Amino acid sequence: MKGGSVAVSDSGLARNRDALEKAIGFFDSGIGGLCVARAFLALRPAARVFYVADWEHCPYGGRGDDEIRGCAFRIADSLMALGARIVVLACNSASAVALDALRRERPGIQFVGMEPAIKPAAALTRTGVVGVLATAHTLSGRLFRETALRHASGVRVVPAVGEGFVELAETGARDCAESRAVVRRALAPLLAAGCDVVVLGCTHYPLLLPLLRAEAPGVRFLDPATAVARRAAALWDALSP
Ligand code: DGL
Repeated sequence: MKGGSVAVSDSGLARNRDALEKAIGFFDSGIGGLCVARAFLALRPAARVFYVADWEHCPYGGRGDDEIRGCAFRIADSLMALGARIVVLACNSASAVALDALRRERPGIQFVGMEPAIKPAAALTRTGVVGVLATAHTLSGRLFRETALRHASGVRVVPAVGEGFVELAETGARDCAESRAVVRRALAPLLAAGCDVVVLGCTHYPLLLPLLRAEAPGVRFLDPATAVARRAAALWDALSP
C-alpha cells in the first residue's frame, strides 16, 4: 500500500508554532483513524484538525516496534510543526509501542492514545467471555495487558489478530466471498470460546462492521472511537486559544 504519506518537515513552522492558531492532529497507518477524527469533529466542528494517513508504511501490523515508533515520532513532529498542541494516536498499534515514549520525549504536547475498550465489554458480557480483535503489536503491548488485568477480573479475555483486516478496510471492505472468509477465520476462535462481546482494538476494524455483524449476528462489537474523541475534546477545551 504505497502512496502519499507524511509530508511536512521541519521548516519555519516549528519555530513559529506558538503564533499559529491552535490545532489538533490525528494519525494512523491509513484510513482507520478517520473514525476517531470524525467522532472528534462531531463534538468540536470548528476545531482546526490535521489528519495523517501513513500509507507509505501501512499496514503497521507487519512492522517492528522500532520502525512504528520512528513513524510515530516523525508524524507527531510534523503535526506539531503545523501547530498541533494535541496529537491523537488514532491507531492502537502506534499507541501500544510509541505512546509512552512520545509523552516522555515530547513533554510540551498532549498525547491521546487508543486503549482497548475492555472495561465496557466486561460490564456488558453475559457469557463472561470477551473477545479482543487487534493487531499483534496491540495484543503484546503494555496497554492491553494492563487494561485486561485492571478491568476484566471475573471475565475471560480471548485475544485474536484480525489477519488481513487492515488490507480489507483500506481497499473498501467489499462484501464478497473472500472478505467474508477473512472475517470468519478471525472470528472463529472467539465464537468457539463463547464471546458475546468483542472489542475492536484496531481503528481499521470498525470499517468492517457490516461484515463482522453478518458473520456473528449475536455478538456486540465495541468501538472506543467516541470515548477517545470525548477525551480529546476535553483536552481541546482546556487549551488556551
Ligand atoms: N489502525 C491501526 C491500529 O489501530 C493500524 C493497523 C495496521 O496498520 O496494521 O492498530
